[in-house]
Amino acid sequence: MPVDKQAEINPAEGKLGVLLVGLGAVSTTFIAGVEAIKKGFAQPIGSLTQMGTIRLGKRTENRVPLVKDFVPLAQLKDLVFGAWDIFPESAYDAALNAGVLEKELLAQLKEPLRKIKPMKAVFDQTYVKRLSGTNVKTGENKFELAQQLIDEIAGWKRKNKCSRLVMIWAASTEIFLKRHPVHKTIESFEKAMRENHKAIAPSMIYAYAALKSGIPFANGAPNLTVDIPALMTLADKNKVAICGKDFKTGQTLMKTIIAPGLKSRMLGLHGWYSTNILGNRDGEVLDDPDSFKTKEESKLSVLEYILQPEVYPSLYKGFSHVVRINYYPPRGDNKEGWDNIDIFGWLGYPMQIKIDFLCRDSILAAPIVLDLALFLDLAQRAGMKGVQEWLSFYFKSPQTAPGLYPEHDIFIQLMKLKNTLRHLRGEDLITHLGLEYYD
Ligand SMILES: NC(=O)c1ccc[n+]([C@@H]2O[C@H](COP(=O)([O-])OP(=O)(O)OC[C@H]3O[C@@H](n4cnc5c(N)ncnc54)[C@H](O)[C@@H]3O)[C@@H](O)[C@H]2O)c1
Repeated sequence: MPVDKQAEINPAEGKLGVLLVGLGAVSTTFIAGVEAIKKGFAQPIGSLTQMGTIRLGKRTENRVPLVKDFVPLAQLKDLVFGAWDIFPESAYDAALNAGVLEKELLAQLKEPLRKIKPMKAVFDQTYVKRLSGTNVKTGENKFELAQQLIDEIAGWKRKNKCSRLVMIWAASTEIFLKRHPVHKTIESFEKAMRENHKAIAPSMIYAYAALKSGIPFANGAPNLTVDIPALMTLADKNKVAICGKDFKTGQTLMKTIIAPGLKSRMLGLHGWYSTNILGNRDGEVLDDPDSFKTKEESKLSVLEYILQPEVYPSLYKGFSHVVRINYYPPRGDNKEGWDNIDIFGWLGYPMQIKIDFLCRDSILAAPIVLDLALFLDLAQRAGMKGVQEWLSFYFKSPQTAPGLYPEHDIFIQLMKLKNTLRHLRGEDLITHLGLEYYD
């Protein structure tokens, strides 16, 4: 993500089209939320771009602007939404089905939501076993499907008079795929698309179409998608910003808040058992072991990286970490996540922490979608290409440059994000050293 100091940032002029793959619980809660905020019905709670501030210079300077006043972000009034889904329902009907937001609120937003009708999806049930739908594109092979997407995106941009676009994957979690030799180069990837190779999942076809069209891409699910050498090379070559994977909400958000605290006080960990009940469509998809495996890998990696057992063997070597998701329809989107944390302190004496997080998955995810759309657009206008590690803050399984381990500690992630914004505007980075106040 190299950028010159005091980078030139093109202004956020004109409309920004936000293309969402998947028009389910997360996407509709995001779109409805933005419409509600625009009408003054609610506040953008949970969104760093809308509510966050950034300290500049010394503590004595009292310079603390809002993030959105500090960097030139697209304004909410300039956002236009488009989506693909395998079901043909409008955003209004999809939001009603998702059952996250109250009917009364949705009724007031009916007009803008009704207008958003999903385009036909690139879909193959091999990759999401629990779903089947009719609103699906047909084509000779995966390469041809990608061309259809590219043409459709260009037409959508013209029709909606957008000056810029971003694409966010908020569709179902695909089955677990490992990197395959066909993912190595752009050439081998394109050849594999033409041959309908099974290592090319639908999410990769969307990502390819985005990058070919010069559109930044974020991956909100744990699928490999854009985290393969071929697509990372394409992003660099076409100077497009990318980031992923898997929105950091719910239980993993809690984990990356609490684990850094335990480690900072050198408290040990015997084990961390996490279980969830979840009843929305995401829960249903994750009930399939192959999709769950993708999610499990994403959720499990967090603690190892934060606690660094190889650096602190007497505190963290061999701790037990278990993650379960159980599909339980009565709960809908209102997930309940339990954590039992077995820690130990001075002289090895054991203690326990219990967390019962009654959260709302899509309420936590929606502001992340907003921030990612705005920050990716900013990155693109600032000429930042390839993996945007500074957006790790939003992901369970942050994508990094090859050979770099991901940073999971949410406080380090936040510092990295804010320092990137300071860097973009040519402000001093904040180290929190502060010795100068005592000279
Ligand atoms: N809500 C959260 O807190 C959270 C956190 C992290 C990750 N995620 C991920 O975000 C994604 C969306 O979550 P959700 O709760 O909105 O799920 P959802 O099931 O409500 O919505 C997903 C939508 O994607 C559609 N879809 C599936 N494959 C598609 C394809 N190839 N093309 C177009 N549409 C497709 C489905 O038909 C569905 O409408 C999931 O992968 C989920 O794991 C959600």
